Amino acid sequence: PKILLINGPNLNLLGKREPGIYGSLTLAEIVSGLEAEAKAAGVQLQHIQANAEHLLIEAIHASDADMIIINPAAFTHSSVALRDALLGVGIPFIEVHLSNIHAREPFRHHSYFSDKAVGVILGLGPQGYSLALQAAVARINTGN
Ligand code: DQA
Repeated sequence: PKILLINGPNLNLLGKREPGIYGSLTLAEIVSGLEAEAKAAGVQLQHIQANAEHLLIEAIHASDADMIIINPAAFTHSSVALRDALLGVGIPFIEVHLSNIHAREPFRHHSYFSDKAVGVILGLGPQGYSLALQAAVARINTGN
C-alpha cells in the first residue's frame, strides 16, 4: 500500500516559521519520523512539498496512492483547483493542519477541503500527521 503526503506552501520553512504557532521541528524531521512509522506499518510513504499550486496538482494527477494525507497550508483557504484535483482522481484524503485554524484569523476558518475529506485533524502540531498516518493505514488495511 502507498500513502502520498502533500505539504503546501511555506511548510518548507517549518522550524523557523512562526515557531509559536507551528513549533520548532523542521519538515525534514517530521517527515523522517513519519517514514519510520510508515515502514513499521508496512506502507510506502511518498512525500511532496511545493510552494506552487500546479506542482501539487500535478503530483495528485500522477499519484497511484491508496490514500493522501494533505496539509494544503494557505491553499486550504483559496484553492478550488487543488480541491478539484483531489476529487478528480478520487483518492480518499485526510486533511491535516498543525495549528487550530478555527482559533485563528477568520479567513482561516473556511477550508475548501474539509467537506470532502475522510477526516480532518488540526491543532495538534506534528502529531497530527502521525495520527493521520495511523488512520490512513487502518483504513487501507480494512479496505477503506
Ligand atoms: C496551516 C494553517 C494555514 O492557515 C496556513 O496558511 C498554513 C499552515 C497549518 O498547518 O496550521 O500555512 O495549514
